[in-house]
Amino acid sequence: MVRSNLLLSLLAGAAFTEAARPVKNFIPGRFIVEFEDAEDSTEFSSHVSSLGETIRTFDSSIFKGASISFNDLATAESEASNLMSLRSVKNVWQQRLYSVPNDEVIWTGNPNEASQISRRQAYNESDTFSPHVMTQVDKLRAQGIVGTGIKVAVIDTGIDYRHPALGGCFGPGCLVSYGYDIVGDDYTGANTPKPDDDPWDGCAGHGSHVAGIIAAQANELGFTGAAPGVTLGAYRVFGCDGSAADDVLIEAYLRAYDAGSNIITASIGGSSGWSEAPWSVVVSRIVEQGVPCTVSAGNSGDYGLFYASTAADGKKVTAIASFDNTQSPALLVTSNYSVDGGADQQFGYALGEPGAWAGVNLPLWAPSTNPNDTAGGCAAYPADTPDLSGKIVLIRRGSCTFVQKATNARAFGAKYIMFYNNVVGATAAAAAVDGILAVGMTTAATGTAWVNAIAAGSEVVLDMLDPETAPVILQTTPNTVTGGYASTYTSWGPTFEADVKPQLSSPGGNILSTYPVPLGSYAVLSGTSMACPLAAAVYALVAEVRGTFDPAVIEKLLSSTSNPQLLNDGTGAYPVLAPVAQQGSGLIQAYDAAYASTLLSTSSLAFNDTDNFVDTLNFTISNLGTEDVTYDIATVGAATGYTFSTTVYPDNFPGVEFDDTFATLEFSEAKVTVAAGASSVVQVTVTPPALDAKRLPVYSGYITLNGTNGDSLSLPYQGIVGSLHSTTVLAEAYLAGSTDTNLAPITSGNTSFTLYKTNSNTTAAVQPVAVADLAFGSPLVKYEVLSGNSSLGEILGSPIYYASRDPHGAAWNGTLADGSYAPAGTYKFQISALHIFGDASDKSQYDVGTTSEFTISYA
Ligand SMILES: *[C@@H]1O[C@H](CO)[C@@H](O)[C@H](O)[C@H]1NC(C)=O
Ligand SMILES: *[C@@H]1O[C@H](CO)[C@@H](O)[C@H](O)[C@H]1NC(C)=O
Ligand SMILES: *[C@@H]1O[C@H](CO)[C@@H](O)[C@H](O)[C@H]1NC(C)=O
Ligand SMILES: *[C@@H]1O[C@H](CO)[C@@H](O)[C@H](O)[C@H]1NC(C)=O
Ligand SMILES: *[C@@H]1O[C@H](CO)[C@@H](O)[C@H](O)[C@H]1NC(C)=O
Ligand SMILES: *[C@@H]1O[C@H](CO)[C@@H](O)[C@H](O)[C@H]1NC(C)=O
Ligand SMILES: *[C@@H]1O[C@H](CO)[C@@H](O)[C@H](O)[C@H]1NC(C)=O
Ligand SMILES: *[C@@H]1O[C@H](CO)[C@@H](O)[C@H](O)[C@H]1NC(C)=O
Ligand SMILES: *[C@@H]1O[C@H](CO)[C@@H](O)[C@H](O)[C@H]1NC(C)=O
Ligand SMILES: *[C@@H]1O[C@H](CO)[C@@H](O)[C@H](O)[C@H]1NC(C)=O
Repeated sequence: MVRSNLLLSLLAGAAFTEAARPVKNFIPGRFIVEFEDAEDSTEFSSHVSSLGETIRTFDSSIFKGASISFNDLATAESEASNLMSLRSVKNVWQQRLYSVPNDEVIWTGNPNEASQISRRQAYNESDTFSPHVMTQVDKLRAQGIVGTGIKVAVIDTGIDYRHPALGGCFGPGCLVSYGYDIVGDDYTGANTPKPDDDPWDGCAGHGSHVAGIIAAQANELGFTGAAPGVTLGAYRVFGCDGSAADDVLIEAYLRAYDAGSNIITASIGGSSGWSEAPWSVVVSRIVEQGVPCTVSAGNSGDYGLFYASTAADGKKVTAIASFDNTQSPALLVTSNYSVDGGADQQFGYALGEPGAWAGVNLPLWAPSTNPNDTAGGCAAYPADTPDLSGKIVLIRRGSCTFVQKATNARAFGAKYIMFYNNVVGATAAAAAVDGILAVGMTTAATGTAWVNAIAAGSEVVLDMLDPETAPVILQTTPNTVTGGYASTYTSWGPTFEADVKPQLSSPGGNILSTYPVPLGSYAVLSGTSMACPLAAAVYALVAEVRGTFDPAVIEKLLSSTSNPQLLNDGTGAYPVLAPVAQQGSGLIQAYDAAYASTLLSTSSLAFNDTDNFVDTLNFTISNLGTEDVTYDIATVGAATGYTFSTTVYPDNFPGVEFDDTFATLEFSEAKVTVAAGASSVVQVTVTPPALDAKRLPVYSGYITLNGTNGDSLSLPYQGIVGSLHSTTVLAEAYLAGSTDTNLAPITSGNTSFTLYKTNSNTTAAVQPVAVADLAFGSPLVKYEVLSGNSSLGEILGSPIYYASRDPHGAAWNGTLADGSYAPAGTYKFQISALHIFGDASDKSQYDVGTTSEFTISYA
């Protein structure tokens, strides 16, 4: 029960980040309908023909239905619920949009660079690519396991198959052998897709990076994908900009399934915490049909617990979390330098903007010769600073912008700036300052060596080659701070229904892969988007060895053989395992999964919350080997994270408070002998930690099984102390203006809105928006307009189902449910949000809030 000081220091030491909360909106008037299998859908077609447009129809064994757009948004919700009374309709869902994940672009190559690199790796060379070493892909590679012939579909921005490392062609016999462009370049999510047969990715890049992680062929940079023997399917669901709607994603999955894909992967998601979105439902069904589906867990780790993303949230869908690469790669342009007139030595730097370095041969000058001075070059230089027009100014990165640093140097005549990094690698700096001709960034190690030499009285001269033609080198630097630990950005589970999410982790932070040739050919990106395809490739490798694609079997093998890691808040590790809600099973180990001769019956155990507590769960150990095995069973706790501290909003990470009070697990037997080919059931009884239930602590850990055959396995478990049902879901109901995309509360006295009764000027008009600021997920949120205390009914956009814990707005243009306009006057909105596991027919199970009053008049 004693809370360790060590753990509390994590909270104290970490910066509390106030994460910007995204605004979530469903697409007004757009729905997905599922048909009853046995019923003829002509009834549906004739019913909706006068009400709206059928955008897309689905006729697959997985999903039969349609996506529709109602003409009259005011009546769309009620028309949508009317559909449920049709015999042919089984389900109706609102549609939402998913954006391209906010992965961090560390760097991208320059289009001219590729020709200057000269290192190729053949498949049969030993695989030293660090993401592969971290996950034992290298050990399978050494045996020639490359996923030969396995079909992996990538649902993304398309693939630049013209890239030599991505095969150079599209169609049968090519690396990218099948696929479809469901949307076209101009699709934004809001407009009508223009499909075509060519899923080429020439403008976005994301899908080409993902594809290379799976299957890049030997290339100049000396890496390959994890499963370069597979054949890829490219299903393009994003245009050059914007989002993808549920119906587009569903169509992509159905096409990928119908094309016979063995594995389907998508590095796409949106905050949710629910498994009920239509896209997740379709993915779950495909998994049930025997096709493993990996989906990225999301890049919202800073939101803390209970911020899981969909479709990764789907039942049986494998959610993939991200670990940071142990090596940070950077592609650097080379030049020469010399110290005190000595021999030329090579160094690498990331070319900045502007970049007119060709032929510059000047000595370095540094505003600060202390490499630990974090704000070096941020303050105006002293008056006695020499003329810098004949120098290259060497400045450490950090504390203020590149532009500010360049401006200070320019004040004394500088034309050239070489930054040195304050973290691993080097990144392209931009400093568009009048008179500055070139900027660049070298690594922390190089820059530190130079300032130390200058401090010691030496002269360091840079002899800059033309960056257009200079050789390019790939430099990798060990990441000793976060390498090999869960990435701080990886999204945390569990779901609002206490499901374990994520399932597995793989390297996604600082990953080198292919990029469209027009965008530079190669790039380093960070995100769960990069972790997910590596896991998909590992599925292919394990499937090749074991001769099965059974999604549950492969997930269980990967989960039990993963390596859970210590908690790391971005500044270093703490001596306790990271929670299952962050890392799932831990870092996948492909070789161990491929050859394990023990199969557990589940990939995790969930004990639910206190209301729905299951104190005893079973799992089965199957010995697939040829000799009897005795397993020692024990348990190791992971950090217990408190969801809340002082407010109804969950804490952000870092900033989540942890406790090393663990659950106690008792096993029916501490040592189990399982005969060759036999199975044995182990009963697990849990006593949750006695912690403050109001703060909703999430406890977890791993059951460890060490077999006499050498198998060393771990089974993640998780539970929640407290009541999900009693947790406040609605933090606040407030008023916003429709022209504010951030939906900030209107705090000024002016809450008068001028509305229009014609459509023509609505874009100019500011409409009142009812915002449900959800602190926790709600299965049902209703928006009504009140005149005095009486409700005039629900407004356009109400209700919403399975809402994430974000602000959700519904704008009002003055129309009531019957299509008439409310008279000019004073109103307020009332928002009712149903509690988790709540009964929608019981008023007492909603949080209810009202906004401030506002006045409407008509122009
Ligand atoms: C207000 O919204 C309703 C429902 O979407 C729509 O029918 C009507 O045209 C809108 N009025 C204006 C002026 O936009
Ligand atoms: C790799 O394959 C190439 C071409 O097939 C062959 O020449 C080379 O000897 C092989 N190298 C190794 C280490 O097997
Ligand atoms: C750069 O230095 C290398 C030796 O490291 C030398 O071979 C090369 O000629 C130099 N390049 C130029 C342009 O000075
Ligand atoms: C900078 O910090 C490092 C590591 O703490 C130390 O070894 C070095 O002496 C410091 N350099 C200066 C100039 O203070
Ligand atoms: C927890 O219990 C609720 C209520 O019975 C159920 O709906 C939910 O699926 C359970 N969650 C898990 C992970 O078993
Ligand atoms: C666990 O297994 C035992 C023994 O096989 C059985 O009696 C019990 O009902 C099982 N419990 C659950 C929760 O499945
Ligand atoms: C299993 O082996 C691991 C690693 O050697 C060890 O840390 C753990 O305590 C062992 N567990 C049991 C139950 O023996
Ligand atoms: C505030 O006042 C201006 C001028 O009367 C009006 O145009 C505007 O719609 C008002 N309301 C809001 C929310 O800005
Ligand atoms: C719509 O806006 C235009 C341009 O601002 C204006 O000329 C027109 O009168 C407006 N129409 C209505 C109905 O307010
Ligand atoms: C609304 O209800 C509250 C509380 O029931 C009451 O105090 C108030 O007078 C009512 N206002 C109107 C306009 O009826």
